[in-house]
Order: sequence, then structure tokens, then C-alpha cells
Amino acid sequence: MYFIANWKMFGTIKSVNSLNKVISYSKTNKHKAKIVYCPPYTLLKSFVEKTKKTNIKIGAQDCHTQPNYGPYTGGISSKMIKDLGCKFIIIGHSETRAENNNKKINLKIKSALEEKLNIILCIGEKLVDKNKNKTKNVLKKQLLEGLKNLSNLNKVIIAYEPVWSIGTGIIPSENDLIKNIKFIKDTLKKSKNFTKSKVLYGGSVNPKNIKNLMRISNIDGFLIGGASTNEKIFIDIIRKSII
Ligand code: 13P
Repeated sequence: MYFIANWKMFGTIKSVNSLNKVISYSKTNKHKAKIVYCPPYTLLKSFVEKTKKTNIKIGAQDCHTQPNYGPYTGGISSKMIKDLGCKFIIIGHSETRAENNNKKINLKIKSALEEKLNIILCIGEKLVDKNKNKTKNVLKKQLLEGLKNLSNLNKVIIAYEPVWSIGTGIIPSENDLIKNIKFIKDTLKKSKNFTKSKVLYGGSVNPKNIKNLMRISNIDGFLIGGASTNEKIFIDIIRKSII
């Protein structure tokens, strides 16, 4: 099971110390949770150094569409992210989709694949899509356009994050989650011939709902925002996930 901490725009250099308990926990971690931290760009290097002799991996939260270098003020390429020692990258998070269409997301995935980074592609419907029964259409479009012309998906993990459940405390019903995750896996199988897909859930995961979420057998892990910035709460979630 993956437990991926998405810190979004949170943390200063001192926050590196808030990894101490998680590092100790990861060493005793009997059920071998795969822990990944995705802090902001400014903290990537210190997080990589802090976790050097552990099995915690570090990832970025986005990258530029262009590989390598270029005249793009403020841009960070996947090459630069790889160079820092990162192993993962989040692409297509709903909080970045206002500036990102599926075409741009596809280019970002391609550049990250060239650097052999593990990609966490976020997809998810808005509340208006859900209310109009359009969830499957949205998921399919985001998947197929985001992964267009990509044949080797072994380094791509999908994070299903319904936009309406991010930061709201509301999570989908067990039935809807099972159905939507199955739909994502079936779509990848049918259209991409990709049978080993890992699908995570993200949106308001916390120590209170983790036990129920763990009952959903087709979930391969979690992408956790707010609750992951507090190490005690993050460890609590991982601990409680052991059934
Ligand atoms: P929250 O866990 O804060 O709802 O955020 C989820 C998320 O967006 C993770 O990428």
C-alpha cells in the first residue's frame, strides 16, 4: 500500500524535522507501507537528504511541460527534479488543472517518463460532473488524453481524487469508490492493455475514515493532503490501515 503525502504549499526548512517520527516509524513498519513525501520544490533537496538512509521516497508536485532546460521563467523541469534525487512526481492534480489541460498533462508525463520518474497521475470529477452522472466520462477522458501515445505505463500510478472530496471532509460512498476504481482499472486494461495498474484514493483521508477506506479491496494506497503535514496524524493513518 502506498501512503503518499502531498504537502501542497506548506512548510519551511524547519519542517524537515517533522520527518523524524515518520522515519523511525518506517524502520519498524511491519506491514511495509510504501511512504512517499511530496513537499514543495523549495524543500525537495532537504527532504531527499533527510531520508537518504531510509526507504521513504521523495517526489515533486508538478513539472514543466518541456524536458531539459529552456527560457521558461519560474519553470522546473523533470530533469531538475530527477537531479535532486526525487523518485516520484505528481502530475495533473486538480489544484493545478486550471492552468493545465490534458494535452499539457500528457507532455508533462512524457518528460517525467524520460527521466524514469514514477508518475502519480491525478484524475477526478467535479461535483457538477457527479451530479450530472458524468463521472465515468470525465475519468475516461482524463485517463486517455493524459496517457495518449504512451505504451509503457509501468511507472504510472493513478490517483483518483474526486475534486469535491479534497479538503472538505466528505468522502465518496464505499460503493461509488469500488465502482470508480474498478472503472479506472478496466479502462486501462481495455484501452491501454495495462493490467498492472495501481490506483490510489485521495480526498479527506484521515485517521477516522482510514479503516473504512481500507475495506475497499481494489484501492492500492492513498494520496493524503492536509492530514499528512502532521507526522503524528500521518503515522496514525498508516498504523490504523493495518486491519
Ligand atoms: P486532503 O487530504 O487535504 O483532502 O487533500 C487531498 C489531496 O488533494 C491530495 O493530493
